[in-house]
Amino acid sequence: MTSTPQSTGTDANRVIIFDTTLRDGEQSPGCSMNLEEKIQIATLLEEMGVDVIEAGFPIASNGDFEAVNEIAKLIKTARVAGLARATTRDIDRAGEALKPAQQARIHTFISTSPLHMKFKLQMEPDAVHQAIIDSVTHARNLCDDVEWSPEDGTRTEHDFLCRCVESAIKAGAGTINIPDTVGYAVPQETHALISMLKNRVPNIDKAVISIHCHNDLGLGVANSLAAVSAGARQVECTINGIGERAGNAAMEEIVMALRTRQDSMPYTTGIKTEMITRASRLLSATTGFTVQPNKAIVGANAFAHESGIHQDGMLKNAQTYEIMTPESVGLTRSKLVMGKHSGRHAFVEKLKELGFELNHNEVQDVFQRFKDLADHKKDIYDEDLVALVDDTVLRHNDQIRFVSLRITCGSSGPQTAELELEFEGEVKRARAEGNGPVDATFMAISAIVPHNATLQLYQVHAVTGGTDAQAEVTVRLEEQGKTVNGQGADYDTLVASARAYVNALNKLLVKREKTAPSAMSA
Ligand code: KIV
Ligand code: ZN
Repeated sequence: MTSTPQSTGTDANRVIIFDTTLRDGEQSPGCSMNLEEKIQIATLLEEMGVDVIEAGFPIASNGDFEAVNEIAKLIKTARVAGLARATTRDIDRAGEALKPAQQARIHTFISTSPLHMKFKLQMEPDAVHQAIIDSVTHARNLCDDVEWSPEDGTRTEHDFLCRCVESAIKAGAGTINIPDTVGYAVPQETHALISMLKNRVPNIDKAVISIHCHNDLGLGVANSLAAVSAGARQVECTINGIGERAGNAAMEEIVMALRTRQDSMPYTTGIKTEMITRASRLLSATTGFTVQPNKAIVGANAFAHESGIHQDGMLKNAQTYEIMTPESVGLTRSKLVMGKHSGRHAFVEKLKELGFELNHNEVQDVFQRFKDLADHKKDIYDEDLVALVDDTVLRHNDQIRFVSLRITCGSSGPQTAELELEFEGEVKRARAEGNGPVDATFMAISAIVPHNATLQLYQVHAVTGGTDAQAEVTVRLEEQGKTVNGQGADYDTLVASARAYVNALNKLLVKREKTAPSAMSA
């Protein structure tokens, strides 16, 4: 692996964006992505200007290893990071996965708070301190860019934290990341903590200080910005704020806060903010984690003005109620795209305009579905195309594929589903009765692909307005403590439901392979 240490750059106010959507984000319950999906997201992150992409935790599973390895081969301008606990095995595995990267980083961590050391690690502070020196030294032998994190850093005693940080830097860590692992800190404390490290750790100027905040009290972004004000120059974050429990600090909120409030926070990032909406939508479609309508920056209502007073003000001067433009985050008004007479060339051009560069086969598949949709829906909007692309292109590696569905339903008579799925290399058929058409559809799927997963969530939303709108369905399945979300889109709600259920099952097949790494032993 060829690599140079992450430079702090000449611009003292440049903030490095370290995206951990594919690692910490993927650790959210119900969120798992297959290789192709991770590659798509990594490619988009690189294109939008993310500085460091944490692509996974290579020791966690063969799937994680492969994802980090493939992303390392593909990504050219961003740095690719892999996570490792403070063990030789973890670090070797991360080093191996990152070998093809043009710019690689091993991110190694160990808990340092009294609570974690005593109960989770069952290690004395001196042993933890030695593990830090050993792990960072070992990582530096494999990679010249090493990041070190004291897990539960914000609840760590200051004297011990300073000692650990100093030793990690001495052992070769170029980035010191301070995690608020349980989302407990408040902004003034975070500011004071980073200032304390800058004042007390003698060699702190040899490393970039980073911040990594969870959102348990809804303060992830506020804490991250407080850390930047105190001197942190790397922020760890995720698209849409996905992550363990209440999630991580949301990248789009941090980036737009810095951009919009240059007067009080004169810091810059390399993010092309116009790609934020696309990244948010791709992640939602991939994970099935839809964004709440009032979510800052990327929620459906984030730029909507309902009240008369607001609308009146907006018409007179948009700045009366708009502190940033929808265009600055890549939000364009719903545009009528085309109808059933639109040709393939215009279709491909439109996809490019929406940010999709598809290969020949993908265009073929999406165009076929577009024509089919145009036969049933008069007006087709950008949102329809985005839903179609997400639904079609993200399914390429699926082991189970939807083929066809015929439903008999109504107020009298049994509700039946006749279904065809491609599974294990052949088209299989099933007919099932159920309590309503959705139940019958899901029963038919279970007849072809037997499993023990239980349905946790079934949600339908219309992609656009109008009774002929496409339905986008989310299905959440749970099997032995593992949850997955599937999504499907179609002008027929039942077909969308079948696609979503099949998508969730495909994810379950991937997730079955993955085991959670234990706390750790150094
Ligand atoms: O939240 C946390 O402590 C982490 C570390 C592994 C950085 O994700
Ligand atoms: Zn975390």
